[in-house]
Amino acid sequence: MRIDIITVSPELIKSPFEHSIIKRGINKGLVEVLFHNLRDYAINKYGKIDDAQFGGGAGMVLMIEPIDKCISKLKTERVYDEVIYMTPDAQVLNQQTANTLSLKKNIIILCGHYKGVDQRVRDLFITKEVSIGDYVLSGGELGAAVLCDSIIRLIPGVIGDETSALTDSFQDDLLAPPVYTRPATYKDAKVPDILLSGNFPKIEVWRSEQAIERTQSIRPDILRKE
Ligand code: 6GU
Repeated sequence: MRIDIITVSPELIKSPFEHSIIKRGINKGLVEVLFHNLRDYAINKYGKIDDAQFGGGAGMVLMIEPIDKCISKLKTERVYDEVIYMTPDAQVLNQQTANTLSLKKNIIILCGHYKGVDQRVRDLFITKEVSIGDYVLSGGELGAAVLCDSIIRLIPGVIGDETSALTDSFQDDLLAPPVYTRPATYKDAKVPDILLSGNFPKIEVWRSEQAIERTQSIRPDILRKE
């Protein structure tokens, strides 16, 4: 998989890709992530990439021309499955979206900034818009990092233990059950007896009961309504 990220702050978004699971995916050659500084596609020698909005109002808007130049150049080099725009005014990222995107070959992610981008960018170039939650961030970069992490960890071979991603919270519309490790007793806090019993079928039943209980109390909204 190849991910091209277009941003006005490459330095802001690079570091998550230099650590842990994402780094492992990159080092194994399972995913390639490229950063493009929108400033390199500025419309003049002063690096202009944004302007005031027509009709008045606070905040600068990213102009269509630099974005067009950058996306068009990438599109001459390969075919893209999706051109994604990170913005708070979009559908919120969920596990289903991450699963679907993890199967793509080439994607472009455009990070919004300031007041956003000229609407014509969204109308002409964007195939999918993603928000990471109902709150406002200063730019799309942190959202793009979150989206990439959620995708990359699903690519086969990135996570060592293949079953691990499948037992994540949300993968079956449930929160994950509690987990414990040694010591079995810490001060007065004990690990539930069932987990020490060696009765694996019973342990699986306990885990799914716990997952359902947790989901009902913390996130009843994600429980499948049947
Ligand atoms: Cl993707 N961008 C910005 N600027 N704010 C957000 C967001 C994205 N997702 C939630 N809030």
